[in-house]
Amino acid sequence: MNNNAKVPVGVLGASGYVGQELLRLLARHPGASVAFATADATAGEWLEGHQLLKAEAAPLERAEIVLSALPHGVSARYVNEARAAGKRAIDLSADFRLSAEAVYGLTEFSRPRVARAELVANPGCYPTAALIALIPLARRGLIDPSREVVIDAASGVTGAGRNPSRELLFGEVAEDYRAYAVGNTHRHLPEVRATLERESGFAGDLVFTPHLLPVKRGILETIHVPLTGALDQGAAEGLYEAAYRGEPCVQVFHGALPSLKDVVYRNRVALGVAPVEQVRRPRLTVIAAIDNLVKGAAGQAIQNMNVMLGLAETAGLVC
Ligand SMILES: NC(=O)c1ccc[n+]([C@@H]2O[C@H](COP(=O)([O-])OP(=O)(O)OC[C@H]3O[C@@H](n4cnc5c(N)ncnc54)[C@H](OP(=O)(O)O)[C@@H]3O)[C@@H](O)[C@H]2O)c1
Repeated sequence: MNNNAKVPVGVLGASGYVGQELLRLLARHPGASVAFATADATAGEWLEGHQLLKAEAAPLERAEIVLSALPHGVSARYVNEARAAGKRAIDLSADFRLSAEAVYGLTEFSRPRVARAELVANPGCYPTAALIALIPLARRGLIDPSREVVIDAASGVTGAGRNPSRELLFGEVAEDYRAYAVGNTHRHLPEVRATLERESGFAGDLVFTPHLLPVKRGILETIHVPLTGALDQGAAEGLYEAAYRGEPCVQVFHGALPSLKDVVYRNRVALGVAPVEQVRRPRLTVIAAIDNLVKGAAGQAIQNMNVMLGLAETAGLVC
């Protein structure tokens, strides 16, 4: 296929960590090419063979679809401009995730809606892993709504974006490990809650504590699930296997637990389970691992774009 036959894709916020990942994935995509790429402070620089333009100067007419990796609070304005110019769009920020204007693009659970969507809100990184882990259990009524689901999650530093800040200096994060947004104050929690309820009817309490892990990329979530009844290892693994049979981007581990090395640079959520012993009421520990920049952001956006354009869902992706 020559470049002219490829679908032209506009990338807003291409110089950020997520935007750079979008450019890298699009560079090897068999059916899509970059129509333009934007930045703010770094406009004018070159990246992956593209000179970065200011977002307000983006030549929208050159793109068939626009992907926005702009900061939340900034993204909506440019996405609305792209929509007003008649372009389909995928917003990777949080700006439309709780809005009825967009289809929430957790691909595994919204494929037909994504295919028809004019605007897709790409899920957050922590929510993608948590939801892939919890929805199958919640749909089967296995989570006890009278007790809390506890999600302890750790993310590599690219999760905080590329804008410099003192607390993200190498000297601050290296050889350290810390919790942040404790006490259920992280902005991803309402997204997890709302989606879990919509997809499964489960409205019990969630306690979500993110941590900053001094690696570049990757998220590991340890999810403590209170069960309505006992579930042994084989049954829990079988349940996930059945829920995700045929899904190219979800991997269920058997008799083992995933770690970051199983997911970095891949568009994949990896799941592993362990029943909890020596407790009075049944409980399951689920481990979910994801690359925050791939299945947690740019990769899932390409997966959604492929579905919207009728291309092979994993085109340009390594799951
Ligand atoms: N990082 C993750 O793991 C992750 C995962 C899922 C979703 N997200 C979401 O994806 C989006 C991008 O995240 P990121 O981590 O890639 O952020 P980032 O590294 O801070 O990049 C932000 C991008 O937007 C540009 N930009 C900043 N302010 C702008 C403005 N006022 N007008 C126009 N452009 C502006 C930046 O240009 P310059 O570089 O020139 O300043 C850069 O290209 C965010 O909404 C974030 O919440 C991030």
